[in-house]
Amino acid sequence: MRHLLDSTDLTTQEIEKIVLRALDIIAHPQQYAEACKGKKLATLFYEPSTRTRLSFTAAMMELGGQVLGFSDARSSSVSKGETVADTVRVVSAFADIIAMRHYKEGAPRVASEFSRIPVINAGDGGHSHPTQTMTDLLTIRRELGRFDHLTIGLCGDLKYGRTVHSLIKAMRRYEGVHFVLIAPKELALPDYMKAELGDAYTEVSTLEEAMPVVDVLYMTRVQQERFADKDEYERLKDSFILDERLMELGKPSMIVLHPLPRVNEITVGVDKDPRAAYFRQVENGKYVRKAIIYTLLSDEYMHAEPTGHHGETSSCACHNDRCIATTEPVEQKSYIDADGVKRCFYCDHML
Ligand code: CP
Repeated sequence: MRHLLDSTDLTTQEIEKIVLRALDIIAHPQQYAEACKGKKLATLFYEPSTRTRLSFTAAMMELGGQVLGFSDARSSSVSKGETVADTVRVVSAFADIIAMRHYKEGAPRVASEFSRIPVINAGDGGHSHPTQTMTDLLTIRRELGRFDHLTIGLCGDLKYGRTVHSLIKAMRRYEGVHFVLIAPKELALPDYMKAELGDAYTEVSTLEEAMPVVDVLYMTRVQQERFADKDEYERLKDSFILDERLMELGKPSMIVLHPLPRVNEITVGVDKDPRAAYFRQVENGKYVRKAIIYTLLSDEYMHAEPTGHHGETSSCACHNDRCIATTEPVEQKSYIDADGVKRCFYCDHML
């Protein structure tokens, strides 16, 4: 059984196949109108969402399938104390594929251990958001025509930003990709992510420095829901604001992406600039999720060798209080990554 829990679950070849599938779906939507007829997608959303849940829903409907699930865990038996493990055991009896969003890091991985059907991570805490990454990749391909030799500016909350972490894991495999990190020091990219980048990044303290060199500017929101200290959120929330003046410093070919929702970090005046690609990016989210559902339900993908971390594990307690393993009835365990670093099996934090 294969799932899509992290960008690293996809080989570079599989990423390419999904992008090509999405482009084919855009060109020939009618050919896919009954591709998932008789199949059901369960959307289990324990955390709010507009784009991800609705685009998954629209995607399954346009593939001829049906959708069930919940958009607020309080309306499900989760409110009575049901675990993720038991919930997915139950949902496995009613659906063919699950898309799960959860505020706890590693929740979709726990789900995958108990599910009889494929699980797609639709965003887990500050950890990972692989279908957003596929949305970003499809947008980059459609806008710029390539994944290699790009300078990518990452701006805003690089500490808790799951979209940033997933995008880095996907893009760092392409030749000539360099990252420019623009964040307040309190929200800097975690050291374990910097370690993955080697020397393929530069840190700058202003957008003025980044604008002239980036091909892709990936703006992110400072996420109020990730802060325990509300005063700190108030102090940091407007650290970087992209406006029309800053856009004048950017290359004519540059694109601006944002996973959305935005709050203040991009002024509405930027929206009319043709380089502002974030609403086109939203639309790509539906196409790429159609391609992902189609692929995950195909024999070819399900019978391929799983990727991602699945090697030997050993018992080990996780100290990340955002990790699902601290609250679900699962064995806490670790694995050793390709660089020899010991990490939590569920949330990937260094142990
Ligand atoms: N980009 C994204 O995940 O948006 P939602 O939170 O609205 O799903």
